[in-house]
Amino acid sequence: MNAAGRVSARRLAQLLGRWRRHGSRQGAVDLAAGIRLLVLDGRLPAGTALPPERELATAVDVSRTMVAAALERLRADGLVVSRRGAGSWVAVPDGPVTDHGLTDGDPHVIDFARAVPSAIPGIEAAAAAALPRLVAELGGHGYYEQGHPDLRERLARRYTERGLPTGPDEILVTNGAHHGLAMALRLLVGPGDRVLIEQPTYPNAIEAVRAAHALPVPVAMTDEGWDLEGVEATLRQAAPRLAYLIIDFHNPTGHQLDVPGRERLAAALRRARTPVVVDETQLELDLRAEPVALPPLGAFAGDLVLAAGSAGKSHWGGLRIGWLRASAEVVNRLLAVRRGLDLGSPVLEQLLFAELLDADPADLVERRRELARRRDALADAVRHWCPDWTFRVPDGGLSLWCRLPEPSGTRIAAVAQNFGVRVVPGSFFAPAGGLERWLRLPYTLPVADLADAAHRLSLAAVSVAETRASITDNGLIPVT
Ligand SMILES: Cc1ncc(COP(=O)(O)O)c(C=O)c1O
Repeated sequence: MNAAGRVSARRLAQLLGRWRRHGSRQGAVDLAAGIRLLVLDGRLPAGTALPPERELATAVDVSRTMVAAALERLRADGLVVSRRGAGSWVAVPDGPVTDHGLTDGDPHVIDFARAVPSAIPGIEAAAAAALPRLVAELGGHGYYEQGHPDLRERLARRYTERGLPTGPDEILVTNGAHHGLAMALRLLVGPGDRVLIEQPTYPNAIEAVRAAHALPVPVAMTDEGWDLEGVEATLRQAAPRLAYLIIDFHNPTGHQLDVPGRERLAAALRRARTPVVVDETQLELDLRAEPVALPPLGAFAGDLVLAAGSAGKSHWGGLRIGWLRASAEVVNRLLAVRRGLDLGSPVLEQLLFAELLDADPADLVERRRELARRRDALADAVRHWCPDWTFRVPDGGLSLWCRLPEPSGTRIAAVAQNFGVRVVPGSFFAPAGGLERWLRLPYTLPVADLADAAHRLSLAAVSVAETRASITDNGLIPVT
C-alpha cells in the first residue's frame, strides 16, 4: 500500500492525548482503542504510515511489547496492515465500520462540523446589479492584484467609520480571510518562528501556522475570555514573531475583547513590537439586541495590526472574498508576496460584494436576528438533552463551546457519526490536542436540525459512557 503520509511518533502521541484509562492495566487495549478512534474520526487517514514500534513506545512511554500488542489488535480489526521490514500503515477495514453505514454527504447526517451560515438573501440582487458593471470591465485586463478600487474604497470607508481612518491603499482584497492569514504568515514568519495563538482557536489557522513551518504557541483562554497576563508573559518570554487573535466573537468561544482589554493588548504588542493578525471574520455576528461596535485593534496598536476580514460569515463563504487592512507599506510588501501565489481575486465576486456593502442593511439585521434565534434554540436543546453539559450563551459568533462532564470529546465526536451527526471535538482547536472536555456546537443550521443534533449527541454521549464501562470485556470500542 502506498502511504498517504507519515505520522511521527511525537505527533501520534500528541494526537492520542490521554489514551490510557485511569487505573487501567490493559495498556495495549487502551492504546489500540486510542489509535482506532483517531482512524475512525479521520485524523489518521487510510494509508498513513505509522512510526516504528520502538519510537512509538518511547513517545507514549510504554514498552515495545505493549505497542506490538496494540498493533496486533488493530491488525485483527483490519485497521492496520504491516509488512515485515517495511512497517505498518493505517488501512480501511473491509465492510462498514459503523452499524448505520453513514458516510460524508449522507442526507441523514447532520453536519455540525462547519460553523458557517448559508448565504443571505441579498446575494441574487447584488449579482444582478454587479453584472452590468462586469460588462463595463470586459474591455480591460481584469487583473487587480490589490483588489478592485471600488471595493477597496468601500472597505476603507468602513474602517474609517469604525474609528480607524483608512485609505484604499491600506486595503488588500483577498480570496477570504484564510488566504489573508496565509499571506501574512508568508510575509512575516519564517521556519521555526513562533506564532502566538489563542487556545482554543480556529483549527485551520493552526494548520496555516504549521504550513508556514512555524510553531504555534498557545495561550489558554479563560471562562471569561482572554488571559491578558498570559499573553503579556508569552510575548515577553517566547518572543513570537507574530500573533494571531480573534477578538470579535472568537471562534469557538464567542467572546469579544472589551475596550480596556484592547488597550492592554495593544500596549503589550507595542512593548514587544509584535505584529498581530486580527481575524475579523466574525465581526458582523453581534447577536445582541443592540449591537455594540467596538473600535478595531488598529485604533490602539497602529501599524502592528493586520486585520483579516471576510464576506464569508456576514454574507456568504462561497464568494471567497476577504481582505487585509494594514499600513500602506505592509500592503505593498503583501502585494509582492501575493505575486508569488496568485494575481488577484475574481472581478465579478468583488463587484458583487461591493454591491452587498452598499445594500440595505436589513438583510444583515435579519441574519443576526435569525442566528440569535438559532443560538437560543440550540441552548435550550442542549439543556434538555445533555443537562450535564455546560456552556456560556455567547453574545455573538456561531457556536456554543460546550464543557462536558468527562474528558470524552474525541470519543463522542467519533461515535456521533454513527448517530448521524458530524461534530468537531475540542481537541481540534488546540495545536497539541487536549481540550478533551470540550465540543463546539454550531447554531448555523435550521432550528429543527439543531434540536435533532442535540438529541443524537446525547445518545452518542451515553454510548461513550457505556463503552467505557464495557471496554474491558472485549477490548474494542463498539461504534454503534
Ligand atoms: C475565525 C475564522 N477565520 C477564518 C475563517 C475562514 O474565512 P474565509 O472563508 O474568509 O477564508 C473562518 C471560517 O470558518 C473562521 O471561523
